[in-house]
Amino acid sequence: MTDQWFADRTAVVTGGARGIGRACARSLAERGATVVVGDVNEPADLLADADIVSGSVRALEADVREPSDLEALVAAAADDGELNVLVNNAGVVTRESIDDLSSERWNDVLETNLTGAYNAIRAAKPALCAASGSIVTVSSLLSHVGYPDRAAYSASKGGLDALTRALAAELGSQGVRVNAVNPGFIRTTMTDPYREVGEEKRFREKTALDRLGEPEDVAEFVAFLASEKARFVTGETVLIDGGQAAIR
Ligand code: NAI
Repeated sequence: MTDQWFADRTAVVTGGARGIGRACARSLAERGATVVVGDVNEPADLLADADIVSGSVRALEADVREPSDLEALVAAAADDGELNVLVNNAGVVTRESIDDLSSERWNDVLETNLTGAYNAIRAAKPALCAASGSIVTVSSLLSHVGYPDRAAYSASKGGLDALTRALAAELGSQGVRVNAVNPGFIRTTMTDPYREVGEEKRFREKTALDRLGEPEDVAEFVAFLASEKARFVTGETVLIDGGQAAIR
């Protein structure tokens, strides 16, 4: 599904070794973009996928908590100092009551999910401005809807939504669009534990479409937001939740 707009365009995807990030890398590469993925985990599966997309995906070890890793990631992707797309996807979840949520765990979730996006945006901003590029951040339904035992995760995602709107206001005059997607329950390694304890059916019944999401459901929309088809869209946070928030 080549999209002429993506030919000669470059993208960085954080946390792209598996799950939603991997689907985003693949969907951008399938459209013709050159994609550099950073992840703390071994990107072996991703590299196998890269063959499918003609070697247009490269993977580097990069921890979003480390600004220098992100600078290296952007440098690897930026063509003549220009970067067209940054997908802030890396994230971790924790499921603990506020009583059990240690300050270490709270800080780790905030540092990865929220500060990690800040680090990536800081590293990528000059190259994004040079290309009039765009940022798409993977937030969550849980920034809109309260669930018990998700305090750190929800707070980090609420921060990402606010960051999206603030930076849309700040960077619009420099030609950079800033948007976020807010997925509901998507089948990935992150949600494996919930499936194991039999919660899949409960989550499925909460969606209007009566199914769980797949990483590709999110990746398609990320590619749309990143492309010139969304050229007048900025500061948006878009639910991709099968109607879960709508019927709640
Ligand atoms: P996943 O656990 O399958 O993948 C997350 C990826 O991020 C992994 O490859 C992991 O190694 C990487 N990562 C974690 N910490 C990192 C760090 N410090 N630096 C670089 N990479 C790091 O999870 P999934 O589901 O693919 O999640 C991707 C994003 O989507 C996350 O931000 C998550 O919060 C968000 N999301 C997921 C939902 C779901 O139901 N699966 C729902 C809503 C949002």
